[in-house]
Amino acid sequence: MWHSLSVSVALICIASVVQGLDLKSANDQPCFKIPNPKTPILDMKWVNSINPLYFPAMSTDNLYRASLNVLQKEARDVSFATVYYDACLKWYIFDNGTTVATGFNGLRTEYKTKPLKDNPDAFTFVGVGVDKDFYSGTLYTTLTDNKSFFFGAICMKNGEMAWGVGSTTPTLTEETKKIVFDHAVSLGFNKEDFTELKYDTCRN
Ligand SMILES: *[C@@H]1O[C@H](CO)[C@@H](O)[C@H](O)[C@H]1NC(C)=O
Ligand SMILES: *[C@@H]1O[C@H](CO)[C@@H](O)[C@H](O)[C@H]1NC(C)=O
Repeated sequence: MWHSLSVSVALICIASVVQGLDLKSANDQPCFKIPNPKTPILDMKWVNSINPLYFPAMSTDNLYRASLNVLQKEARDVSFATVYYDACLKWYIFDNGTTVATGFNGLRTEYKTKPLKDNPDAFTFVGVGVDKDFYSGTLYTTLTDNKSFFFGAICMKNGEMAWGVGSTTPTLTEETKKIVFDHAVSLGFNKEDFTELKYDTCRN
């Protein structure tokens, strides 16, 4: 009995050493293929009224980068379970060029944002910390219903593509989920890299 207990303890230790986040390249296609329409599709008044904005679906790489930027930790030091159960990411968009991300039981990160001159639905964002480029890039809104969600395709500073959905509710309806996933596929994103973030276990 003692023997098998120590074996399983050893296995758990090994597992927790090797299972950091697998930050792999999400460049399903080059960034230049993101649509960049000149006519606005987003009602900014609505966006600025959302408080908070939830983050229920995204490309896995986007979730990892957003989480690590809030945690200010290296990928190898964070497990998927930590992200999945504790991230509870929420965004607060202010009209002064600041967006705040909260998560992981009370952590808080500020991003500087700036709209693109020729596309009111797109903005650049810059992360914080030692490596500001780790989670920085340009987000193009490519789909919205102007009342419950918007879809952002991101061109990261390092050239990778990512996507994420901002939502007024912690879960998406099945109907919206289908619309969003179909849209992501239509932009060339790989279904195997889609992740949903649950908020059921969030404490705040
Ligand atoms: C959302 O609002 C913008 C700005 O008012 C408008 O141009 C766009 O057509 C709207 N889209 C939908 C789907 O309601
Ligand atoms: C913008 O407003 C928010 C909320 O009031 C504040 O936390 C943030 O520091 C402000 N940012 C700037 C650059 O003034």
